[in-house]
Amino acid sequence: MHRESPLRRDLPGKTAPAKAQAAVNTLAFPNSEKPKGRLKKENRRLRVGVLGAGLIAQAAHLDACKKARNVELYALCDSAADLVAKVALIFEPTRTYTDADTLLADDKLEAVIIAVADQFHVPMAVRALEAGKHVLVEKPMGVNVAECERLREVARTKPGLHVQVGTMRRFDPGIAFAHDFIRNQLGELLALKAWYCDSVYRYQETDNLHPLIFSSSHAKRPPGDPKADKFSYYLLGHGSHLVDTARFLGGDLLAVRAVYREKFGAHSWFVSVEFASGAVGHLDLTLPVRMEWHEGFQIYGEHGSIVSRSFNPWYFKTSEVDCFSTRDGQYHRLLGADGHTFRRQVEGFADAILKGVPPIGAQIEDGLAALRALSAISHSVKTGERVLLAEAPGNV
Ligand SMILES: NC(=O)c1ccc[n+]([C@@H]2O[C@H](COP(=O)([O-])OP(=O)(O)OC[C@H]3O[C@@H](n4cnc5c(N)ncnc54)[C@H](O)[C@@H]3O)[C@@H](O)[C@H]2O)c1
Repeated sequence: MHRESPLRRDLPGKTAPAKAQAAVNTLAFPNSEKPKGRLKKENRRLRVGVLGAGLIAQAAHLDACKKARNVELYALCDSAADLVAKVALIFEPTRTYTDADTLLADDKLEAVIIAVADQFHVPMAVRALEAGKHVLVEKPMGVNVAECERLREVARTKPGLHVQVGTMRRFDPGIAFAHDFIRNQLGELLALKAWYCDSVYRYQETDNLHPLIFSSSHAKRPPGDPKADKFSYYLLGHGSHLVDTARFLGGDLLAVRAVYREKFGAHSWFVSVEFASGAVGHLDLTLPVRMEWHEGFQIYGEHGSIVSRSFNPWYFKTSEVDCFSTRDGQYHRLLGADGHTFRRQVEGFADAILKGVPPIGAQIEDGLAALRALSAISHSVKTGERVLLAEAPGNV
């Protein structure tokens, strides 16, 4: 986010923390998961706790957990007690907490969505795994390669626990359709172009689309101001989506060569990529562009081609993906009426845990590979050289 939305509702600064904590302690909604309206709940639901009650929790994860067919919004935790109290009134978790370790010590909790600042992802994911909880961690999985490798090491000691990364575009039905089309019909991949261009009008749109977002002066933030360094903040925050989509569709990346320009407050990374398959590619991360949200990809294969257009995610609108096949000489496009990628993401997460359904979501290796790619892009900008992902220094 490159600015705070003016519509974030600040809670009154003089709210006494003790009073707010008392309100938190009295919150319990044992019947909150009864199916309402047309939302159907399955009998076995994964008991999920959302760690972090900030923007992404309020705009996406809490709603997603309430609506997901196989999830119970069991707990909400934020170190800002006033924020927990307000947000819990809307989403009615069964339990509320203001301390992450107390949340993780709850025996009934099965899984946690880690929706805190990027710098806290790996430390919190490690603590959650050590407490025996499954983890859905927001993107980027971490902020450097070394800590992501550390998370992988811890996860290897917990083979029964599932870790998934929150690059939710994989759950866009149109993008999933493209993924299957590539695997089943496209034949050999020749080239892939993908672009992710956040709009200068983005906050005008999201302020309209989001519910009013509460914030708190007690929210826990990483030291310093990591968001002030736009080069690393945008690469990590937005580049993680672009790289994950490219890898989801095109497979592993081998090497990159990147150039970067900043002009009039806009930042652009143009990246030539080589896939391990031998396919070539180009990634364009530019933001904010002086036009509407601009995200998509174009793919050229042996037996067809794909052209895709994605929308600002908060429209919950499935990407328009046209897959052309030489087998029948026709374009194929999924309507994809259900475009709630965040709900579909947590449903996929719960299905993998409860039913052993093969996961679609990004796994630890994907989160780690994304960090390697972002580090390689960053290093290539600085050196002007082609950088092998395997040799990327690790920082962004
Ligand atoms: N998937 C997406 O498209 C998408 C979109 C936006 C944000 N995000 C990601 O979501 C994450 C959170 O972003 P945000 O904008 O919601 O941040 P935010 O700062 O608005 O909220 C984070 C909350 O976490 C709480 N917190 C931090 N550490 C805590 C701890 N140890 N214990 C309890 N609470 C703690 C803070 O008090 C804060 O309220 C980021 O990693 C961001 O990259 C993802």
